[in-house]
Order: sequence, then C-alpha cells, then structure tokens
Amino acid sequence: MKIFITRDIPDLAINYLRKKGFHVKVYKSETAIPREKLLKEVVNVDALISLLTDTIDPDLINKMKKCKIVANYAVGYNNIDVGYAKKKNIVVTNTPDVLTDSTADMAIALTLACARNIFQGEELIRENKFLSWHPKLLLGMELKNKTFGILGAGRIGTAVAIRAKAFGTRIIYFSTRKNEFLEKELKAKKVSLNNLLKTSDFISINLPLNKKTYHLLDKEKFALMKKSSVIINTARGEIIDENALFDALKRKKIYGAGLDVFENEPKVNKNLLKLKNLIILPHIGSATFEARNEMAMLAAKNVVNVLEGKKPLTAV
Ligand code: GLV
Ligand code: GLV
Repeated sequence: MKIFITRDIPDLAINYLRKKGFHVKVYKSETAIPREKLLKEVVNVDALISLLTDTIDPDLINKMKKCKIVANYAVGYNNIDVGYAKKKNIVVTNTPDVLTDSTADMAIALTLACARNIFQGEELIRENKFLSWHPKLLLGMELKNKTFGILGAGRIGTAVAIRAKAFGTRIIYFSTRKNEFLEKELKAKKVSLNNLLKTSDFISINLPLNKKTYHLLDKEKFALMKKSSVIINTARGEIIDENALFDALKRKKIYGAGLDVFENEPKVNKNLLKLKNLIILPHIGSATFEARNEMAMLAAKNVVNVLEGKKPLTAV
C-alpha cells in the first residue's frame, strides 16, 4: 500500500512505515508542495500524511481514488475540509497532546520576550549601541500579580495557564466549556470574551481556527484592551485581524504583541516589521525534537491503524 508524505518529517516515522512494509514516498523541499503536484500525487495513494500548509479541499479529495486516511502532521486541521472527507469515507487525524508542552513553552517564551524587551536588548548589543548599564535601560514588566487571560482553555491553553501561574499571575479564561482543572488547581475564573480583553495584562490565544474564530480579535476588540496589555498568539494568525493589530500597536493602544503565527504565512505584512513593540516568529511553536518526533510517530501510527482496519488513535 502506498503512503505519500507531503514533506520531510522525522526519519523515525518514515522508517517505521517502511519496516511495516508500506511503500512510502516523501516530497522533500524547503517549501510546500505545489498544488498541481499534490493533485497528481494523491490519485493512487492509500494514505496521505499532510501538513498545515497543504489545502485538503473537495477538489483534492475528489482526486483520491482509494485514500483511506489523511493524517495531518499538526494539531490544527483548519487546512482540511473534514466534513467532505468524512462524506468520502476518509478518516482525518491530527496530532494533539504530543505538542502541547512545546507550544505552551513557546507562548511563555514570547510572553517573557515581550514583557522584558529581550529582542530589543539583543539588537542593542548587535548594533553596538550598548553604552553602559543604565537604571532606565529597557524597563519591562513583571508577571507577578498580573492578570493572565487564556483565550481558549483546551489542552494548550491549560498548559500555558499552568506555566503562567508559576510566575504568580492571576488566571482568567474564556472558553465554551468550564475547565475544572483550571478552576480547582489554579483558582482560575471563567469570564466573557470582552471581560477577558478588558482586564488582562497578558492574553494568550490558544483557540482553533474556524468560522467563529476568524478575525475574532478585530478593531472593536483591540479597543477594549488595556494600554499595558500584551497579546500572544501561538495558534493561528487568522484569529487576529492583522490590520487592526498593526493599528493598535502603532498607536500604542496596547503595549506589545508576540506572534508565532500570522496571516498569510509565509508572506509577512511588511508594516508589522516596522514596529518595535512586536515580536514575530516563523510558526515554530511545536518545533522541538521531542514534539516533532512524537507528531511524526502519531501520524504514522494513525495511518497504520487505519490501513490495517483498526481505529485511528486521534481522529478529529
Ligand atoms: C501547528 O500549528 C499545529 O497545528 O500543530
Ligand atoms: C489545542 O490543542 C487545544 O485543545 O486547545
């Protein structure tokens, strides 16, 4: 049986699939597989391991003659038309849990980098502008006693909250469901979205991207935030209306932003790069050896299970 992988994922998963006797083809490139090529490759595959950069829409799914599973190498699956895949009896799986800690670590890294001007400090040294220790050089803020708002209290949001709590913050969260762990263990309070935006000093976005969350943070929402607030996004760029964010940062209506994701990746809005109160990274939240190996193995095991007629481990 044939498996196509749209990018060079960690070897252990590829070797595992080959040892199991599957024919594995890997598209190796620095950039996403061109659409035309992907449309051709999927025709005869029994399983596809896809990336968040691949659009798995009805057109592509209709090309598949015998594909049984699309295993997304990501926790988010907004790149896949799951409803249409189901209609065509194709299982869709993702890679939850294994990247939760890596992504939560990144949310905290961005939080601290924004709060403490870490990149600005580095730039000062690299540009040879550090003249002397100075009592007022690059003053930032402590996390202690600040309000940390979790936007989306699922697995990753919960892991971010645990870390933020250790810094002495008060946790509030917005979520469709009550999170018992957050409330019991971290004394967190569930609040409305507007309340969270109005009262948080730090806001971490940990929501999936869908119709309801697209541009959830727009001009009106930024207007609610505190002048001292910092927004962190390790989820999906499209949850923030980037023009509204640019405006809020430029006019100092909020203090800063730390983005691991942005709209239209990899094409970055050049305006954003002019801002000093913004940190922007190339979507590396899950980029640790641990998480990427486990994501690869989980995707591979989902494929094996489905091709062997068993239940997938993490169907969406
Ligand atoms: C990365 O963004 C993922 O969804 O896994
Ligand atoms: C993400 O995986 C979440 O559950 O929030």
